[in-house]
Amino acid sequence: MIQLVVAAEKLCTPKGSSPKSGQEMSRVELLDRVYISIEDGKIIDISTSKPKSFVRFVEADLVVPGFVDCHTHIPFYGFRENDFLKRVGGATYLQLHSSGGGLFDTVERVRKASESDLLTFNLRFLKELLKKGVTTVECKSGYGLDKESELKQLNVIDKLSKIVPQDIVSTFLGAHAVPKGLSESEYVDQLIDMLDEVKNYTSFVDIFCEVGAFGVESARTFLMKAQEKGFKLRVHADEISNIGASRLAAEFKAVSADHLLKIDDDAIQALAESGTIAVLMPSTSFHLNETYAPARKLIESNVFVAIASDFNPGSSPTLEPTFVMHLAVRHLKMSPEEVLTAFTLNAACVLNLSDRLGTVEVGKQADLVLYDDASLLTLPYMIGLSPKAVVKRGQVFEN
Ligand code: NIG
Ligand code: FE
Repeated sequence: MIQLVVAAEKLCTPKGSSPKSGQEMSRVELLDRVYISIEDGKIIDISTSKPKSFVRFVEADLVVPGFVDCHTHIPFYGFRENDFLKRVGGATYLQLHSSGGGLFDTVERVRKASESDLLTFNLRFLKELLKKGVTTVECKSGYGLDKESELKQLNVIDKLSKIVPQDIVSTFLGAHAVPKGLSESEYVDQLIDMLDEVKNYTSFVDIFCEVGAFGVESARTFLMKAQEKGFKLRVHADEISNIGASRLAAEFKAVSADHLLKIDDDAIQALAESGTIAVLMPSTSFHLNETYAPARKLIESNVFVAIASDFNPGSSPTLEPTFVMHLAVRHLKMSPEEVLTAFTLNAACVLNLSDRLGTVEVGKQADLVLYDDASLLTLPYMIGLSPKAVVKRGQVFEN
């Protein structure tokens, strides 16, 4: 017996399991009045005729795939409201960072927090994200900067993944900053020593390759070791300055290069050739009052583009997906169709989950966002728009 039928006045979805670039990013399917049949958490049929028997029936004006936030800094502990005020007053991200504040304040708090503190503090964000239609979330370590605290964060991610309905993918970002009291190379050695244990938690590593964090040479040393050990690589690249980080990501055929506010034309070409996905996070540009990544150039150069929130207490205290979509249309100049592909299928490809999610198609997991009185354009237009319901693996969460 069909457990759930979702009747969609309009179904809008990218198609397939491979990442999309160039004009393909706009080619989303728009179907009128279809019935999506769901059994055991999977889509078993999409048809224009209504199934005869089913357990539950839900209707909506618009159905899109569950959003995939492929870059967040959950879990962290405490906020940094003062950084916000200082930045509004003219301080830069790097000034706060190099004076020992900025993310180091969060590191201090995360080190002191217990696992249960971290769990409680971050659970609400995942609950909030689900209500907003984000059915898959990437979470990272990176606020421990020592073995014990980094593993504590990874453990918390693991626990969160068992509590929340979302698919959670974790990433080791021990290489987020050089902890006070150690040199860059001393800490890179420690990071390399952590990798075997980290392997028990995740197959992804990330590094913040930036002035004041890790230079290209130490990033290369770290990425080489991580790749040898079978990790998939991600790089925070060209966020505040351009020191060649996205070229490095391309050199390693990293899964993703994230941020890219300051990327140059040669590096764009390199990413197109390496197949590395560009993860763009316009809310970081907004909060840092910085330039926006050259999304049009990236798309026109056939780089795969995904978008994400970068949700963190410093550079992007924003988890609202419609705000990210709004900025993507307004400042990245992406079309609503490109935004949809970037926030679903392409983001699922970053997390290596596109075989089972990222689109609404037969055989895929039933992760859907349902809206009334909305078209695809309403999503980026109306910041804060809430879905009427979210379906995760066939389970309905009504708002
Ligand atoms: O992606 N750039 C490095 N990491 C984060 C900021 C983290 C923080 O400030 O707490 C980012 O912007
Ligand atoms: Fe980030």
